[in-house]
Amino acid sequence: MIRIHPSLLAADLTCLREAILIAEEAGVSALQIDVMDGHFVPNLTFGPKTVEDIRKHTSLPLEVHLMVEDPIRWIEPFYKAGANSLIAHYEASSNLDKFIHQCKVLDLICGLALNPATDITVAEKLVKNIDILLLMGVNPGFHGQPMFLHFPEKVKKSKAWFKEINPHLLIEVDGGVNETTAPALLKEGADILILGASFYLNPKRREFIKHLYQLSST
Ligand code: DX5
Repeated sequence: MIRIHPSLLAADLTCLREAILIAEEAGVSALQIDVMDGHFVPNLTFGPKTVEDIRKHTSLPLEVHLMVEDPIRWIEPFYKAGANSLIAHYEASSNLDKFIHQCKVLDLICGLALNPATDITVAEKLVKNIDILLLMGVNPGFHGQPMFLHFPEKVKKSKAWFKEINPHLLIEVDGGVNETTAPALLKEGADILILGASFYLNPKRREFIKHLYQLSST
């Protein structure tokens, strides 16, 4: 069954508690919190304090997507804030082995994110030690962007190649996932879908989520 993680980036941030309730009522698996530093990506968003406050109001797992330079620096602050999983970008760190190790020491779910232009071969030596491989369907920084063409092919290749190395690896897709793009992603074996605009800006989000669960159970 597919796992859905709404991205709070697309919610009305003046009503975060409402955004959390909407996610809980929709029956999602976790909340994704997009942390951006204005350097690795051209946008600024949340810090540990936001995660700490969100933590107080939900039992949903909190997945922190670190779109930041030097992700290792942020492991401890987001762990203390209550994050359940941390995802760092391959393009942002020269020492991902250290990032992965430190996450494991803290018993955090650990993920590696690849931007659209980054080939999956770079992850070969890392996938055996991570829980999630996050494939970006858009260049990171903003919600509501269209997914790159032929992106489902990257999901298909990742699923086929990495399941031999790590049978437990979950392939997560983030960016541009909507009614149009989701079926192909599910067909190619995506395990987790990140929904920003197609969830929080979609008045028919409950029908959409139900449709995704139905598609993934066939
Ligand atoms: C983009 C973020 C995504 C984004 C998803 O940089 O990492 O999580 O919020 O939003 P949509 O689904 O609207 O592309």
